[in-house]
Amino acid sequence: MSDYRIWLCLVVLVGICSVLVNGLGVNWGTMASHPLPPKIVVQMLKANKIQKVKIFDADSSTMEALAGSGIEVMVAIPNNMLGYMIDYDTAKQWVKHNVSRYNFQGGVNIKYVAVGNEPFLTTYNGSFLNITLPALQNVQAALNSAGVGDSIKATVPLNADVYNSPASNPVPSAGRFRADISDLMTQIVSFLHSSGAPFTVNIYPFLSLYDNPNFPVDYAFFDGTSSPVVDSNGIQYNNVFDANFDTLVSALTAVGLGDLPIIVGEVGWPTEGDVNAKMAYAQRFYNGLLLKLSANQGTPRRPNQYVEVYMFSLIDEDAKSIMPGNFERHWGIFRYDGQPKFALDYARQGQEMLPVSASGVQYLPQRWCVFSGSGDLSKLGDNINYACSRSDCTALGYGSSCNGLDSNGNASFAFNMYFQVQNQQPQSCYFQGLAVETTQNPSTPECNFTIQIVYNGAAASSVAQLGAVFVIFLWLFSVTV
Ligand SMILES: *[C@@H]1O[C@H](CO)[C@@H](O)[C@H](O)[C@H]1NC(C)=O
Ligand SMILES: *[C@@H]1O[C@H](CO)[C@@H](O)[C@H](O)[C@H]1NC(C)=O
Ligand SMILES: *[C@@H]1O[C@H](CO)[C@@H](O)[C@H](O)[C@H]1NC(C)=O
Ligand SMILES: *[C@@H]1O[C@H](CO)[C@@H](O)[C@H](O)[C@H]1NC(C)=O
Ligand SMILES: *[C@@H]1O[C@H](CO)[C@@H](O)[C@H](O)[C@H]1NC(C)=O
Repeated sequence: MSDYRIWLCLVVLVGICSVLVNGLGVNWGTMASHPLPPKIVVQMLKANKIQKVKIFDADSSTMEALAGSGIEVMVAIPNNMLGYMIDYDTAKQWVKHNVSRYNFQGGVNIKYVAVGNEPFLTTYNGSFLNITLPALQNVQAALNSAGVGDSIKATVPLNADVYNSPASNPVPSAGRFRADISDLMTQIVSFLHSSGAPFTVNIYPFLSLYDNPNFPVDYAFFDGTSSPVVDSNGIQYNNVFDANFDTLVSALTAVGLGDLPIIVGEVGWPTEGDVNAKMAYAQRFYNGLLLKLSANQGTPRRPNQYVEVYMFSLIDEDAKSIMPGNFERHWGIFRYDGQPKFALDYARQGQEMLPVSASGVQYLPQRWCVFSGSGDLSKLGDNINYACSRSDCTALGYGSSCNGLDSNGNASFAFNMYFQVQNQQPQSCYFQGLAVETTQNPSTPECNFTIQIVYNGAAASSVAQLGAVFVIFLWLFSVTV
């Protein structure tokens, strides 16, 4: 497309874009072996006009990078700290150190405090059931007492498994809070209502598909389905996102709070680690979602409304647990290094634009570690397992981009992932004599053998040299003094 047409689009679409931007947030997780520097991430958010971000802690380097950006932030208290928050003084200390401290002109624009993260997942065996509400109450009280309670609200991001419809009547209008926590949920939503806070829910159409092989694929997306769900009230649902959202609306209505504001704390699609976790599906999902959001369609039960949504997620995280599945490390709309994976229809005009990539990212040198093809082959399996248990080999799995490698390719891939995680240290490419370093890129058209980015003093050659010079300088200096 020629330049003037792009400019024309930009001018025409400014109004629409600003609506979209208003609705669009993103989750920024940092469970990576080599997280991008926070300043680079914030620059990337700004370059992509993302104005809301949800983080999973209140890490000071993240907060310092966000300071002055104007970006709205949801900070979080991780589940393992919820127990402490049942003590009001501890909650006050937490607010003082992690919220009030940033509350100044040019500080961090905190809007929400997430109290826990999906604390009622059944896999937690009820560990957080009796501490979440007291923690929520104490944190909001602490925010109020610090004088910021009017503008900063405590909420609890919950998985959509806290509500459901009965199997006998699986329609949104039959939605109720999960039977085992229904009293607790009623108390929590009453509290959110009284404090003026929204309900925060994470909705995952991908997981509906992943968990149920009979799930109709097109119902997970937004471009029409051959198997709509027709509710008893006559409403027809063409996508599971709307149906899920409205199931929550029904559950809230059933406890007398049908108007409680809802924000979607997480929604997204992974690109690797399962047959359905592919780039084309992620792109289809996001573009359908963005179109819907930018049009402020709302859902059948809450039509014509702006829905506040945080995409999950910003960047791939290679150190996340893969208990939920191999896809867990591949939710990013950006790769580990801040390169966009696919184009997004920011402007809802069928024009998909590649998001702006992170700038100033430093990579390790162009070196890989591969299987040498010789050595004690009886030790190969153990060495591959060793490498994969300490790095991310999920791209090798069934349905993933590197699943087509032969067994030698598998070994090379595993060795390289470990070598990169270890910042290419020479001794990390040994594997009992089975591995060798190379400067020839072993990637195939389908499968990337990645080069890690520089992290924490891990050295790209130029940085290493600079560092070495600096160290020598310091040493000389100290010797001289
Ligand atoms: C928040 O504040 C507490 C002090 O109450 C501190 O221990 C903690 O490390 C702070 N940071 C985060 C990320 O929670
Ligand atoms: C929950 O219970 C199951 C079975 O009793 C156990 O295997 C699992 O480790 C428990 N999980 C947690 C988080 O306590
Ligand atoms: C939560 O419940 C467990 C047992 O169900 C109990 O041991 C614990 O003291 C309770 N904690 C609070 C804060 O009520
Ligand atoms: C490569 O590794 C993956 C994952 O462990 C496995 O599914 C696949 O069968 C392996 N391929 C070969 C040729 O060994
Ligand atoms: C491999 O990485 C490059 C960027 O370095 C990207 O353009 C390409 O799409 C990736 N290929 C696969 C199969 O992921």
